[in-house]
Amino acid sequence: MVRVSISAVLFTAAIVVQAAKKTPAIVPGAYIIEYEDNHDPNTVLNSIGADASKRMDMNYKLFKGVSIKFKDLDKAEDKAAKIADMPAVKNIWPVKLFSVPQHTVHSVGDAAGGGLSRREEADTFTPHVMTQVNQLRDKGITGKGIKIAVIDTGTDYLHPALGGCFGPGCLVSFGADLVGDAFNGSNARIPDPDPLDECNGHGSHVAGIIAAQSNNPYGIIGAAQGVTLGSYRVFGCDGDTPNDVLISAYNLAYEAGADIITASIGGPSGWSEDDWAVTVQRIVEAGVPCVVSAGNDGSEGLFYASTAANGKRVTAIASVDNTLSPALLSNATYTVNNGTNQSFGYTPGNPAKWAGVTLPLWAVNFNTADPANGCDPYPASTPDLSGYIVLIRRGTCTFVQKVTNAVNKGARYVIIYNNVAGSSAVEAVVPPVQGIAMVTADQGAEWISKLAAGSTVVVAMTDPETAPKFLVNFNNTLSPGFLSTYTSWGPTYEVDVKPQLASPGGMILSTYPRALGSYAVLSGTSMACPLTAAIYALISNVRKTKDPATIENLLSSTSNPNLFNDGRTTSPYLAPVPQQGSGLIQAYDAAYATTLLTVSSLSFNDTDHFDPVKNFSISNTGSAEVTYRLSNVGALTGYTYADDATIQPDTFPNELVPAFAGISFGPSASVTIPAGQRKIITVTATPPAGLDAKRLPVYSGYIAINGTDGSSLSLPYMGVYGSLHSVTVLNSGGTFLSSKLDTNDTAVPANRTFVLPPPGHANDTGYAGTNKTDLPKVVVELAMGSALVRVDVVPVSTCKPVNSTAILGGPGTSIGQMANSPFVYQPRGQFTAGWDGKLADGTYAPSGVYKLAVRALHIFGDAKVVGEYDATETVPFRIRYSKLGS
Ligand SMILES: *[C@@H]1O[C@H](CO)[C@@H](O)[C@H](O)[C@H]1NC(C)=O
Ligand SMILES: *[C@@H]1O[C@H](CO)[C@@H](O)[C@H](O)[C@H]1NC(C)=O
Ligand SMILES: *[C@@H]1O[C@H](CO)[C@@H](O)[C@H](O)[C@H]1NC(C)=O
Ligand SMILES: *[C@@H]1O[C@H](CO)[C@@H](O)[C@H](O)[C@H]1NC(C)=O
Ligand SMILES: *[C@@H]1O[C@H](CO)[C@@H](O)[C@H](O)[C@H]1NC(C)=O
Ligand SMILES: *[C@@H]1O[C@H](CO)[C@@H](O)[C@H](O)[C@H]1NC(C)=O
Ligand SMILES: *[C@@H]1O[C@H](CO)[C@@H](O)[C@H](O)[C@H]1NC(C)=O
Ligand SMILES: *[C@@H]1O[C@H](CO)[C@@H](O)[C@H](O)[C@H]1NC(C)=O
Ligand SMILES: *[C@@H]1O[C@H](CO)[C@@H](O)[C@H](O)[C@H]1NC(C)=O
Repeated sequence: MVRVSISAVLFTAAIVVQAAKKTPAIVPGAYIIEYEDNHDPNTVLNSIGADASKRMDMNYKLFKGVSIKFKDLDKAEDKAAKIADMPAVKNIWPVKLFSVPQHTVHSVGDAAGGGLSRREEADTFTPHVMTQVNQLRDKGITGKGIKIAVIDTGTDYLHPALGGCFGPGCLVSFGADLVGDAFNGSNARIPDPDPLDECNGHGSHVAGIIAAQSNNPYGIIGAAQGVTLGSYRVFGCDGDTPNDVLISAYNLAYEAGADIITASIGGPSGWSEDDWAVTVQRIVEAGVPCVVSAGNDGSEGLFYASTAANGKRVTAIASVDNTLSPALLSNATYTVNNGTNQSFGYTPGNPAKWAGVTLPLWAVNFNTADPANGCDPYPASTPDLSGYIVLIRRGTCTFVQKVTNAVNKGARYVIIYNNVAGSSAVEAVVPPVQGIAMVTADQGAEWISKLAAGSTVVVAMTDPETAPKFLVNFNNTLSPGFLSTYTSWGPTYEVDVKPQLASPGGMILSTYPRALGSYAVLSGTSMACPLTAAIYALISNVRKTKDPATIENLLSSTSNPNLFNDGRTTSPYLAPVPQQGSGLIQAYDAAYATTLLTVSSLSFNDTDHFDPVKNFSISNTGSAEVTYRLSNVGALTGYTYADDATIQPDTFPNELVPAFAGISFGPSASVTIPAGQRKIITVTATPPAGLDAKRLPVYSGYIAINGTDGSSLSLPYMGVYGSLHSVTVLNSGGTFLSSKLDTNDTAVPANRTFVLPPPGHANDTGYAGTNKTDLPKVVVELAMGSALVRVDVVPVSTCKPVNSTAILGGPGTSIGQMANSPFVYQPRGQFTAGWDGKLADGTYAPSGVYKLAVRALHIFGDAKVVGEYDATETVPFRIRYSKLGS
């Protein structure tokens, strides 16, 4: 089999977005309770009584419940278990924390915009040209009359390009602040009616992508300038937000009459059963399209879908890179040999104490093609660099390493010159370095040539806080229009196709809070999602529908699937569906398509559940008969694992092979449909030949549907060749006993004695946070997601006799699961759980020697059968309880 040549190195040129490794955190003692329909909530509230404080009333049309926090955290789980058994309770979920996906802020501007005049009327904004938004705009379609709710960090609606006011008649006409500035996910919320974003920026950027008005100096145009926005602020200035706030925000937006809801928020999951995903699914089923960013964890490889994007019927949005790389540069000057001042632009990094710095440049060599400039320690002959700004070319090693080498020779200031087009904010906090900045490759080459000629180049830097900014649109020469390397890959663990659609999210210029620079260039699926929401509004205007499935099917079938690109090199084959979904959406084609499909994608499931025959129908809503030719265009097959032995999925770019499924069409690959009629098509899939099933290849492609009317549609499909049920989910090597005081999660040796707080007092002041609470802690590492992880307490020798029973009828005996166990719908990755001796039934294990047995259910496994779990045990450890007050 031919391997596609894809370089193994992730080039620094790619937009690097940090991935989260740990699973979402749980808020101790906090639960969301959903009531059964037609039951009196008071029976639940009365039973909780004074044991808990109310976090939020969640009394909505599509969700009736409450979130609470138990006062006595030690008793929280027994109480939660009792509540779960009440007939009035439909569901009870722990409160989990989510974040704004790690996105990159490349550069920020200023309100003046370098005095540039604003753009002429024609929409040449590249994210619009890429998605045909400009063609709809040319026809005067702006989303008028449509309400888009944005769930995010709020909106700086006082920004002139975001309307300048809040409330009826304003661009941002509805919404609320559910949390307050100081909220970090764990402290008290201070809600108020005003969703102003002055300190974060993410939501103001998102809002501008949808609806920025043209009164701005940088030519930014919102994709749907005619809509009204709802702003639901769910984040404070920093930190996370819990799922009860998210679920509430969605329901508030729904009840406020939002026509479309967009959220650029997520966390690792892979399970459509996740509570937040389920509540978003309900809103979609009630007729309101919900688009959610697919996530920025592309580095994790296949099977890393994010919630709520991974919900059924929820539209997950992948990111492609802009064709231009806009940069907002800060203005400064330099001289050559005391000549006249010449200006140049730079992007401040972190740190950026550049105010008043005027120093000559020094470079380690004069080679502007040096691939690893400044990566090695500098030669002994290097002068003291404290009187210079060190000029280093980007590439190969980290910025931190480059800066460290300079600092080791006394440097306090470093300017990196780029090795690709553009300029971006870089970080290298290496004390005592004071300033770091980036300039373009061209500017670097200019300076190096002067230095090589023996000239003195003196750079007069400016304070980036106050320096005038100007916009430069560099050409993206590496990844224009291709999938962003950071975009998260599906499918879900149950082979639901994710993502659905792709849209420009890499290198996007939009509005930013006035206090933070007014304009900024950001990258992430967070930026792709709101553009898609805006396009839903445009299509809704044209087609007079807001039915979620209709619009998703139209956008999916009219998208342009693109070739695979690893951030620098382009393959001759299409990128896999689990990376790009349908491909880059085409708003105009979707708005005016006269051929409609009844689905947006097909999943043939895995080998165990192979479901090769699928039906869908083609409707010809045009005015003349059309003959459609159906054909199959394969995309690259992605191997989940690097080899037969590893249990950890391979990281991006994982091996991709041009192995394509066969698709046959019934009744025929050519179908003639009269005007106004529909026909059912049957497709039958044959997985690609020659694949190694143990490495869990995910194959995919597109059914091309070409009509004699000139229409050309594509329907993405996907399947897994191999058995998800047989993959190892528990990484036994990464699952072990640690101790609660060890924040590094290292393993403790066998037979350690833990002196536990008296039963029921683990969270008392005097125990919590002191050495007295050095509880045993189990570290669980899942190589793949598991719908159920249980931790049983296995007696080795105990002071008092204990009743122990076989775990799930299999080998090994247990006195019960530890409190908090089982853990449901876990993503892959690591989680930890401390143990204060309490069991899931609320009793405490007597003093003695124990092991913890960890069992993780296989994907598609039967939870009642012991053989369906991967299992491991910790080393033995001893527990005894201290006396109260000791
Ligand atoms: C940059 O600074 C130079 C010199 O001070 C000035 O002539 C030029 O107009 C400035 N450009 C911008 C965009 O502010
Ligand atoms: C620049 O001017 C300063 C002060 O007048 C002088 O000391 C220095 O030698 C000059 N440098 C060059 C390269 O001409
Ligand atoms: C970008 O590419 C276009 C077309 O090749 C060219 O005209 C333009 O000068 C380039 N822009 C920059 C900033 O390099
Ligand atoms: C794959 O099959 C399993 C078992 O029947 C089912 O639970 C799952 O939903 C299927 N996935 C899809 C995408 O149909
Ligand atoms: C269908 O149309 C696309 C786009 O025009 C074209 O690339 C492809 O070759 C066509 N396929 C067939 C089978 O005609
Ligand atoms: C964690 O590891 C770091 C680096 O090895 C060390 O400095 C720190 O003391 C460790 N912390 C604990 C709680 O062991
Ligand atoms: C732990 O204690 C048990 C029983 O006393 C003993 O058999 C075992 O060797 C000990 N393990 C270690 C690593 O000390
Ligand atoms: C309370 O104690 C349990 C262990 O019993 C622990 O998991 C939890 O994090 C503690 N909560 C707080 C707020 O310290
Ligand atoms: C915890 O133990 C360490 C070492 O035994 C000691 O230095 C420290 O003061 C103790 N801390 C508390 C809060 O008791």
